[in-house]
Amino acid sequence: MQRIAGIPVSKGGIIGDTLGYLGRHSAYLRELQAMHGDVFYYRTLLSLNLMVLDPLAVDRIFNVKGVSDKDFDLYQMLKSTLGDGLVSIGTNEDWIVRRQMMNKGYKPAGSKESMAFYKQEILDETNRLLNEWEMRGTTFVIDPIAEFQNLAIKVISRIMFGRDIVEGVWTLPQHLNNIIRSLLLYGMVGTRAANLINGKRLRSSTKVAYEAMHQMIQISREAKGEHRMYMIDVLVDMLDSNMITTKQLLDEFVTALSAGYETTTRSLAWALIQIAHNDDVQLKLHQAVDGLTTTVELDKAEYAWWCGREAVRHATPAPGLARRLLEPVQAGNFLLPAGAIVNTSAQTLNTDKRVYGETAELYNPDHYSTLKEIPKAGNLAFGGTTRECAGKLIAEAEMAYTLAATSQRYWFEPIHQQIPALKLGIVLSPDTSKGYHLLRVHRR
Ligand code: HEM
Repeated sequence: MQRIAGIPVSKGGIIGDTLGYLGRHSAYLRELQAMHGDVFYYRTLLSLNLMVLDPLAVDRIFNVKGVSDKDFDLYQMLKSTLGDGLVSIGTNEDWIVRRQMMNKGYKPAGSKESMAFYKQEILDETNRLLNEWEMRGTTFVIDPIAEFQNLAIKVISRIMFGRDIVEGVWTLPQHLNNIIRSLLLYGMVGTRAANLINGKRLRSSTKVAYEAMHQMIQISREAKGEHRMYMIDVLVDMLDSNMITTKQLLDEFVTALSAGYETTTRSLAWALIQIAHNDDVQLKLHQAVDGLTTTVELDKAEYAWWCGREAVRHATPAPGLARRLLEPVQAGNFLLPAGAIVNTSAQTLNTDKRVYGETAELYNPDHYSTLKEIPKAGNLAFGGTTRECAGKLIAEAEMAYTLAATSQRYWFEPIHQQIPALKLGIVLSPDTSKGYHLLRVHRR
């Protein structure tokens, strides 16, 4: 077996590892883990990557400040797609300052009033979707991914801009998809090759996106003096006080749209598929939410929040995380040197029995009532605590309200008995190739 500094190297070869990593992600990594242990190298198209699945080491690397950062080529590559947005800034002074500023848009300055306002927008948008469903009769079939893609883009654009830009001049999903797909390409083949393959399309999509956002800035400025609470209003005030540049504002929006669109779509779809396959969970969800209508009431329906949270754990949309070590870290038998770039898979850890116990591989929202404490290394679905997702509150509210509101009105049933496999594209997602993800919906 080939080894580098004692660490085993997978024999998958370039294509084998790449297809395995993308196609079967967690199952494939688990096979490599069974062969090599918790620390090994695997290849993707042009690079050799160090994978660490040792829970203690992962906890230290991703949850302890000053042990690792995001200043390395992967994140510089992301600049081609996400510019100066939060995701592509290294973990340094610039990021701390920007994150503090941006939190005012994502978790509106800790103000309960503004967060309640976002939550109401999310619930209203979900109810609009359900009113459309009403027109389809008492029993019909849905593709949850398509339904929730539509919803997620509306929710996020309403929170950000206060209006539904999908129906405006901007064909948002198409351009966003192009921007998001480019991220994967840059990660897999590097900047040069990705620019050759997709540079032109990416530039044109980014241009359309920026033009639409310029219009939104204008609309926000014209509304000055009114009670303005959307994310763009918070950011335009910062722009007009010279706290951020126009480019930073535009990049931040492309970042948030890209980071928050496919992730919530796929998690919601996975939650609903699992719920449809599990009558006990579906009945418990009904008991928890029936009769509740306001966001304040729904906030107390813990089980609805657990159903969303469990989907993110069980099928972690953004499983691949990477960091550069700032100091040596012990990972099992190996001392990884400062400077090493370490990858981990939140999905693999989230379904590791050492982390979540014997039921780790089951979708079971009751994990949150039985586990005394969520294990740290099994809680990286929204990133490590040192660099946690800025949109987590928004995403969790969207999932809880949507699952609550849909199940108050409908009963979901799988068309096929088989649960779809998970496949890693830009995010981890139910494989749609055999239609196993389609659901039959009955009005209750
Ligand atoms: C289920 C839904 C979501 C999941 C699983 C998710 C996951 C993640 C993860 C894992 C990271 C960290 C990446 C890393 O450390 O390399 C991240 C960062 C981020 N996410 Fe999310 N996300 C979700 C929804 C959202 C939403 C709805 C938004 C926007 C409204 C959003 C905006 C961001 C931003 C701006 C960052 C960068 C934060 C920073 O670096 O300071 N995400 N997300």
